[in-house]
Amino acid sequence: MKPAERIADLRARIRHHEERYYILNDPEISDAEFDALMKELEAAEGEHPELVTPESPTQRVGGRPAEGFVSVAHESPMLSLDNSYNEDELSAFDDRLRRGLADDGVAATDLDYVAELKIDGLSISLTYEDGRLVRGVTRGDGFRGEDVTSNVRTIRAIPLTLPGGAASGRLEIRGEVYLPRTMFERINHEREDHDEPAFANPRNAAAGTMRNLDPREVARRGLSAFVYQLIDRRGDVAGRHSEMLTRLRALGFPVEPNWRTCRGVEAVLAYCEEWKERRRSLQFDTDGVVIKLDELALRERVGATAKFPRWAIAFKFPPEQATTTLLKIEVNVGRTGAVTPYAVLEPVRLSGSTIQMATLHNEQEIARRDIRPGDVVLIEKGGEVIPKVVKPVVSLRGPDVVPWKMPKECPTCGSQLHKPEDEVVWRCVNIACPARFRRSLEHFASRRAMNIEGLGEALVAQLIGAGVVKDFADLYRLTSPQLEALERMGRKSAQNLLEQIDRSRGNDPWRLLYALGVRHVGERAAQVLLESCGSVEALEDAPVERLTEIHEIGPVLAASVREYFDEPRNRQLVERLREAGVRTVAPSSTEEATGAGDRLAGRTFVITGTLPTLSRDAASAAIAALGGKVATSVSKNTSYLVVGDEPGSKLDKARALGVRTIGEPELLALLAGSEAGGDQCL
Ligand code: IVH
Repeated sequence: MKPAERIADLRARIRHHEERYYILNDPEISDAEFDALMKELEAAEGEHPELVTPESPTQRVGGRPAEGFVSVAHESPMLSLDNSYNEDELSAFDDRLRRGLADDGVAATDLDYVAELKIDGLSISLTYEDGRLVRGVTRGDGFRGEDVTSNVRTIRAIPLTLPGGAASGRLEIRGEVYLPRTMFERINHEREDHDEPAFANPRNAAAGTMRNLDPREVARRGLSAFVYQLIDRRGDVAGRHSEMLTRLRALGFPVEPNWRTCRGVEAVLAYCEEWKERRRSLQFDTDGVVIKLDELALRERVGATAKFPRWAIAFKFPPEQATTTLLKIEVNVGRTGAVTPYAVLEPVRLSGSTIQMATLHNEQEIARRDIRPGDVVLIEKGGEVIPKVVKPVVSLRGPDVVPWKMPKECPTCGSQLHKPEDEVVWRCVNIACPARFRRSLEHFASRRAMNIEGLGEALVAQLIGAGVVKDFADLYRLTSPQLEALERMGRKSAQNLLEQIDRSRGNDPWRLLYALGVRHVGERAAQVLLESCGSVEALEDAPVERLTEIHEIGPVLAASVREYFDEPRNRQLVERLREAGVRTVAPSSTEEATGAGDRLAGRTFVITGTLPTLSRDAASAAIAALGGKVATSVSKNTSYLVVGDEPGSKLDKARALGVRTIGEPELLALLAGSEAGGDQCL
């Protein structure tokens, strides 16, 4: 065989086995034999690099992590589905369709439906051009999604090429990316080992994975997919949905095999009833059934509303429930000081895991539902990690079971709890409360906030316990010996953590604002505020009226921001963070020559040696954020040489040219600058 033929043959065989393994769950060869085929192909391609194409199975995982995702418009909107929760609602859907079609002259007999399992993942649109996968885009808001092609390519259930016959022109395929249960469990175990928060469910894990910028990590997570729609805009469509599903499978796509054609709504109801239980045996999560009119011509007639097609509906399975004993009610102190009760339960199995805790909302709800410690209670698990207590089983209540009383003092710091008249939540108002600080620091470091990998619950507790972190800014002053003194912390982990902390200095400042935990300021609000004001400093001085002028910022949020920055301790904290090199100026405002954005404009910095706490990247980013230039070699135009440990020959050159030399403390002072803060927000 010629090399090209041999390579083509290997690729075809590999795709065949990928299908057997990832789509049919019925492998014909062992993993080792499959790996051997891949190795053989890699070797052959190594000898003939000119024959490597992006469609080769060796090219599923791309090289470097992406910077971000590009927003892409969908050719036609990706609609969502109307929901139904019981037989009556499903029968009403069938009635509506039959009446609508009868008015349109179509005989009102039993309609043909296709019932499919509703995959609990995230929807995806795949585009193939001339038989090659060219794009994968998330649903986004239905009109625009994110281009996640390099992540989609790692999903081995999804073909990179289509068989010859289907090759010309453009096809769009829509479906659902999901995380198989086994992969979900593995990932969560790993996350626990790394002290990272577990994903609540496979859907969240799949969505989080899809947004990961590193395709190598995505490949490791083992996502899978099912598709359910083929859009051929050349008009060559099947007459029925069932035919389309068959065709998709024939093209090598993963189609969930348990779909069924159902004549009339009774058959649909039987399918839903059957899968209510059977779904537990599946290797993926399903939260319901999707019922679709089979005949595509009839779909055209009934059309769609702005949000949903009228020809389809989702039937949602009821949440799983169990009964157990409520051993006691305890309270938790959150980062805002909110004190929330939770139920400690006699361990019970529910939806495949052992449950020992459940949420109880607040004091008022506990009283309203008359839930008492010692009661047998009904618990329910929806999409969230922690189930909720639905109600007590009053008929089983013992004689000495008495109502619960909310504690009057904070269980951690002992200070009096407060509750405004018109609110339901009790709060610990002591801002120095250790429980509050612990939760705040967890939030500060969390992925969505400053994203300090490895700084999870256990480590936060250790750092606070050891007395080395008393406020957020202390994180940026941690040293390796301090960390190595902690239990289970080696030199390597200490280094890793310091690197992560250092990296976070250069974060976009909306993250900092969100991380500070200002009440009502979520990620979105933080982004909007920073976009409009340009820097945290500008926000510090912005009057409420200015803040409410910002689109999307309401009076409650504006007042909360004002209140936060009116507190001198909070301003000092931001000052200390800035001094520690944490970025407070948004990138866009630094491009304009206004305010704080250009404080270092016209000054050129060169860095030599290792700085005590800042990495070169972080230092450069901080300088650039303030309009300064960072150069690699010293010349007479250099304003400052920043000197760290073990400086190189740059120091000699700077001395020879009379260039001013400074250390990290002076650099940090320059970055913090007394004239800090733009006035864009005033
Ligand atoms: S059909 C025009 N079929 O459910 C509607 N959707 O709640 C096209 N989903 O956004 C959707 N499994 O992401 C369809 N077998 C299935 C599905 C399914 C899961 C998702 C899909 C959709 C969401 C609506």
